[in-house]
Amino acid sequence: MTVPIAIIGTGIAGLSAAQALHKAGQAVHLFDKSHGCGGRMSSKRSDAGALDLGAQYFTARDRRFVEQIQQWQAKGCIQEWTPQLYNYRAGNLMPSPDEQTRWVGVPCMGAITRAMLGDLPRTFSCRISDVFRGEQHWFLHDIEDCDHGPFSHVIIAVPAPQANALLTTVAPKLANVAAGVKMEPTWAVALAFDTPLDTPVQGCFVQDGPLDWLALNRSKPGRESTPDTWVLHASSSWSKKHIGLAKEQAIEQLHGAFAELLGCVVPAPTFTLAHRWLYARPAVAHEWGALADADLGLYVCGDWCLSGRVEGAWLSGQEAARRLLEHLD
Ligand code: FAD
Ligand code: NAI
Repeated sequence: MTVPIAIIGTGIAGLSAAQALHKAGQAVHLFDKSHGCGGRMSSKRSDAGALDLGAQYFTARDRRFVEQIQQWQAKGCIQEWTPQLYNYRAGNLMPSPDEQTRWVGVPCMGAITRAMLGDLPRTFSCRISDVFRGEQHWFLHDIEDCDHGPFSHVIIAVPAPQANALLTTVAPKLANVAAGVKMEPTWAVALAFDTPLDTPVQGCFVQDGPLDWLALNRSKPGRESTPDTWVLHASSSWSKKHIGLAKEQAIEQLHGAFAELLGCVVPAPTFTLAHRWLYARPAVAHEWGALADADLGLYVCGDWCLSGRVEGAWLSGQEAARRLLEHLD
């Protein structure tokens, strides 16, 4: 019997590791507490269509990620996004065009991780609470009191605070590293309007005030054109300060900031949605690539091991897989 490798987390880091291992002929089994894959890159189905409430777009600097992007492009699950970009600082809204290539999943961000998952073995709606070793193999325990296993190795591909909780008893040294990583929250809000707003803005970096970013969903390729839906992200500092807000209040306050920023008539939205990302981004970037206790057969990856971006998460998954395969040889 082939004993598979367990991967906890089906965000882009876990799926990147899964793909690299699968390509190398290894059997994997993925677990996620959510009902689907993607994590912070997933899209939320709503009455206003699929909405990207987490990652908005991604850029590529590393050659390996550029090659991956070419493959996704050939598959048709991503396209380039060329919004009318603006910048908002000290009350001034100014066009801010640049030469940066930005990519989005089509028809929604979640299309990328869905394509990566393919038919790899997976168990969803399964929150792992413990990782433990038997005499020869690894086992996972979930919050429903079920055990899963045996597994030859375990890859933990979840945000740092959640990795810390899983590592504490089995690998205290790795747990300490994860415990030292601070991750900051982001409030995300979607607002839909029946009539398009009278503004040329399609994406905007915000330098002060409650907001950090806003984007017009239908300016991205492959999206439904109605209604006019905007995604707003609050800054880390505002999100931290307002972490306990009720969703309705977060919507109201960010709607106010949005109307003030655009400076055009912004009516009451016909649809609203709010999501609080508790572990949205690491406070600082790191250069670990991935963490490992190769003798134990335990590996850790995620955006927080590199840059808190899609590219960083993907590269971290590749690195975890590389180290695991290297140790098999
Ligand atoms: P995640 O996507 O968080 O995946 C971890 C997975 O593990 C999740 O699916 C979770 O459900 C699962 N999990 C956690 N604990 C357990 C457990 N105990 N048991 C089972 N499953 C578990 N990056 C960009 O490059 N461009 C952007 O524009 C951008 N915008 C962003 C905006 C927001 C609001 C947020 C939140 C993030 C943004 N990012 C952006 C960052 C980017 O989304 C992340 O860097 C990347 O998606 C992280 O991937 P990951 O696989 O490391 O983690
Ligand atoms: P990028 O190169 O487009 O942007 C990096 C940063 O450069 C931006 O945050 C912005 O401050 C600045 N910038 C870039 N182009 C600009 C322009 N035309 N005008 C004004 N400022 C500009 O993309 P990269 O490096 O791939 O980063 C991804 C994006 O994801 C960033 O915007 C980052 O803030 C965002 N992000 C958001 C998270 C959240 O929780 N809200 C988490 C992780 C990333």
